[in-house]
Amino acid sequence: MSIWDERYAPNTYFYGTEPNDFLREHASFIAPGGNVLCLGEGEGRNAVYLAGRGYDVVALDQSPVGLEKAQRLANSKSVRIQTIVANLDGYRFESGRWDGIVSIWCHLPSAMRTVLHRQVIVGLKPGGVFLLEAYTAQQLRYGTGGPKDADLLPSLAELTHDLEGMEILQGTEGERVVHEGAGHAGLSAVVQMVARRPT
Ligand SMILES: C[S@@+](CC[C@H](N)C(=O)[O-])C[C@H]1O[C@@H](n2cnc3c(N)ncnc32)[C@H](O)[C@@H]1O
Repeated sequence: MSIWDERYAPNTYFYGTEPNDFLREHASFIAPGGNVLCLGEGEGRNAVYLAGRGYDVVALDQSPVGLEKAQRLANSKSVRIQTIVANLDGYRFESGRWDGIVSIWCHLPSAMRTVLHRQVIVGLKPGGVFLLEAYTAQQLRYGTGGPKDADLLPSLAELTHDLEGMEILQGTEGERVVHEGAGHAGLSAVVQMVARRPT
């Protein structure tokens, strides 16, 4: 059992059942009714939210325990999502498949992250949109959630480099108050990005 399976083992939802604020505010950048892949989607709160807004959603995570709860959450809200248990390390995307790809707190080692983000570009349709929120390395001083390893915490400059060739519609680094279940609570240092694959 992985550390994430253990974290998700209780019946409660570690990050709650409400969607991430950044996603809620920026989901409409993705074409209405489009197909969306949620990376590192855990217990499914963001996937279920997007499905409720009419998107056709696939939630991918390495944790079968998390994704089983994601399906339960979807059933409880009478929406449908698809789930894929997979490791993002070396994951290959079908070319031009997605209207949207979403990465919320999906913190990966920097080398893996760069490879994944090159795949994100491949996986998006022309005009498809990538939405990301992550903690930055400054978060290590805040102690309000997130990984403790700086290599997992990207800067805006690193993300912009990873996503070279994409149109950066919004890219910000700064502070915001995050309240998401027991996992994330309080003033936090985050990076947010909305990027579009050129048509
Ligand atoms: C902080 S949680 C965020 C969960 C979800 N995105 C949310 O906002 O509620 C990070 C998630 O990334 C997943 N993850 C981390 N490394 C992964 C990898 N290499 N492959 C697939 N999933 C991974 C974990 O299993 C975990 O569910």
